[in-house]
Parts: sequence; structure tokens; C-alpha cells
Amino acid sequence: MSPGRKKASTKRSTRVRIDPARLAAYDLLRAVDRDDAYANLVLPPLLRERNISERDAAFATELAYGTLRWQGLYDQILAPLLSRPIVELDSGIIEVLRLGCHQLLKMRVPSHAAVGTSVDLARTVLTAGPIGLINAVLRKVAAESPDELIAAAVESAPGMTRDSALAVRWSHPEWVVTALREALGTDPGNIEGLLESNNQSAAVTIVARPGRGDRDELVRQGAEPTKWSPWGATLRGGSPAEIPAIREGRAAVQDEGSQLVTLAVALAPLAESLAVAPTHRWLDLCAGPGGKASVLAGLAESVGATLTANELHPHRAELVRRALSGASAHHEVVVGDGRSMSWPPGSFDRVLVDAPCTGLGALRRRPEARWRRQPRDVAGLVTLQGELLSAAIDAAAVGGVIGYVTCSPHRAETVGVVSTILQQRSDIEAIDARALLPDVPELGAGPWVQLWPHIHGTDAMFCALLRRTG
Ligand SMILES: C[S@@+](CC[C@H](N)C(=O)[O-])C[C@H]1O[C@@H](n2cnc3c(N)ncnc32)[C@H](O)[C@@H]1O
Repeated sequence: MSPGRKKASTKRSTRVRIDPARLAAYDLLRAVDRDDAYANLVLPPLLRERNISERDAAFATELAYGTLRWQGLYDQILAPLLSRPIVELDSGIIEVLRLGCHQLLKMRVPSHAAVGTSVDLARTVLTAGPIGLINAVLRKVAAESPDELIAAAVESAPGMTRDSALAVRWSHPEWVVTALREALGTDPGNIEGLLESNNQSAAVTIVARPGRGDRDELVRQGAEPTKWSPWGATLRGGSPAEIPAIREGRAAVQDEGSQLVTLAVALAPLAESLAVAPTHRWLDLCAGPGGKASVLAGLAESVGATLTANELHPHRAELVRRALSGASAHHEVVVGDGRSMSWPPGSFDRVLVDAPCTGLGALRRRPEARWRRQPRDVAGLVTLQGELLSAAIDAAAVGGVIGYVTCSPHRAETVGVVSTILQQRSDIEAIDARALLPDVPELGAGPWVQLWPHIHGTDAMFCALLRRTG
């Protein structure tokens, strides 16, 4: 729960019949706030359990995810309409107000319906006390034009800096705006395009697992081939669970950016001395839940390599085992801290470090994530990332390739980690990762690859390729 916030009343009245979509959206917001739940894990089963129709489920999903994304803007709009600071309000009241704002400002729900159903929702989930307040505040929101409300909120941005104004306008924490603007580097003018992309739902992209699946099968079932990944297809609608190839483990949900960086790591040239070796061993150092490992396994098999997939947490290692269960490549799944594994130095000729990170590159997929991460998280992650990358280099044979990947574009986690290791160690060199993805445009100044939602339609994945030289 946000610090200083009051607890919501749990009393639930049955006097008013509230529509199931709005109630589900409210319950999801409460679970995210109170239990630190992940919205995209909680909402689909919640909708299924309640037998909510397909149409209502779509409405509930847009309402809940949209409200979570835009809550920063809505709080700024609501603040002058309230007599107390927003953090002093009962959190249930705030959620009902935010849900009402999203319907009024972004979903084109008619004013009388948005206000009326919010009051009904409050009657169902709260005590009678705040109903007058909710009615009065939402009527004021409904009386103004959305553009004027947003403009006034932006003008009242704290500190009135460029980033604070963007933070309010596009509903991101200010430190995230600053980090993304810095990551865009030579193209900071594009920041609004990126922030806008982060507020849109990402299409569901699938990977036909190399060696097991067939993209043509997905396309025959109506999916659209991805632009650059040879195994990817994007769903035009429906649920991935309905696709036989997914149910049978031949395909899985995976962003095209993840597919592309995995391809780059798998195809980066080894030094000639190593390339001609009779056996090849690949390592995925941070493998859970196994998305990239299952792609790597197929690619490893095609060149006669074996795959070791390591993961710190046993429950996530179990997910890796499941992801690899149908893979024909010789593979093993091990559980341990990637910084202190017992394999002899130089054991592997290809090592992937898909490092734990802030996840700021996948904000489209995790509606609440931007509010949960804190700037103080970055330093600890950077230390861990540097240690994992160093261990990966130790595990790589001379002439071998190390791929460092994050689903964050934050410069401290990307260029910062890689530049530091290049300064610290004289036994590695950078490979131009862009050359491994020759058809993909606008990958940055190199030698790293940085993908972007607003340019490539992928998560903002970063990939650096290093070769062990000594
Ligand atoms: C970004 S995720 C990897 C995603 C995975 N490669 C995939 O594509 O499905 C990072 C993983 O690293 C694991 N991890 C965190 N600290 C670790 C450590 N010290 N050693 C090994 N794995 C670690 C996390 O539990 C998490 O599963």
C-alpha cells in the first residue's frame, strides 16, 4: 500500500447491484494496492472465476489496466477538487475516484453513467460516508473538458520542470521520465512517443519454439508474422491459451524484442579456434521462467550444442524445467546463485546473462510496475548485474561470446554496467550487436542494441555482446 494511505473499509453491501466489470476492476485495484499483486496475473483468473462475459471482461481489463497506468495524472486532476491531501483519503475512495476519472477522461463513457455507476460501486464496496464526496467530485470532473483538465494538471506539476510536466501529462513517475529521456540519448525529442507507447496495451506476441514449433502453423491460425523475428507471430485477438501450439509447448508467449536479442546471442560469431571445437556448451545464467532458454535450446540443438539453464529461485527453476521439458536438445537445469557457481572457469562457449532489472522497458505489459519501482532500487540492481556479468565472463571460454540483456533501457543498468566491466577487465572486447540484426532499423549508435516500443513495437530490450579474448 502507498505510504501514509488509510485502509479501505472491507464492508460490502448487497443493497445495490453493481455491474460485474466495474466490481472486478475495483477488486483488482485493491489487490494491487493492498497485496502488491501483479495485475496481469490476477485479473484473467478473477474474470474467469466470476464467469464474466467476454464483452464485460474486455471493459474490465481496459478500465483496470488503464486506471493503473493513468493514476498519476488522475491524482493530479483530483487533488484541487478535494479538501484533504489525496494520501489522507481512504484508499477505497481513491480507487473509486480514479476508476470514475478513467471512464470520464479516456473511455468515453457518458458522464451520467460514469458518475452513477461510480456512486453505485461506492455504495457496494464502501460505507455510506464518502458517497456524497464521490458524487460531487466526479460531477466536477464530468463538467470540464478532458483537455482542459489535463492541461491544468500539467500546469500544476510539482516544480514545473520539463520532466515533471511530462510525468503528469503521461502519468509516469518523474524519475522514470528522466531515466527514459537519458536513455533515448541522441533522440530525446522522442520521449513523448515512448511515454505514449508505455500507456498502450502491447499486442500478444508468440514465439514458435525453434526445433519444436512452426510459425506457419500460428499464421494459419490467424496470427500475423512479426516483422523481424523468424519465429514470431502476433495474435490478432483471442487468448493465447486457445492456441494448440501453446497448449502443447511448441510455442509460448514472448515479446519480439526478447526473440531478437536471443537470436543475436545465439548467432554472434565465436573465435575461429572455438568455432571448430567438437562440442559446444551454452549457458543461460539467469534463466527463470525459461522463455529465452526454451528458444536457446532449439538453437543449441541445431548446432549440436548442449544448454545449461541456471536460476537462483527453485520455484522459477521449476518453470524453466517445464519450459524445456519438450526440448530435444541435451539440457540441464540447475539452481544456484549465478555469481558463485562451481563450474570450472571457461566451461561454456556461449553465455546469456538476462539480468534481473528494474523492468522499465516492459511498462506496457505491467500496468502497475512504474509506481512500484523506486529510484533507490537501481543501485542494488546495478551491483548485482555487474557481478553476474563478471561471473558470466569467467564462465566463458577464450573466444566465447557473452550476451548481456536487460528489459530495462535505464543507462545505469545497460551502458553503465557494460562500460564498467570493459574498464575493469582486459580479457573482453565488445562485438557490434547491431550486425546480428541487420534488418532491424534504428538500433542506436552501437555497439549495443537498444530496442524501443515506440520505434520497434517491442519491449525496450537492451543487448550487449562481448567476446572473451584472454
Ligand atoms: C529477467 S529474468 C530472466 C528471464 C528469462 N531469461 C526468460 O527469458 O524467461 C532474471 C532472472 O534472474 C534470476 N536471478 C536473480 N538473481 C540471480 C542470481 N544471483 N543468480 C541467478 N539468477 C538470478 C531471477 O530470479 C529471474 O528469474
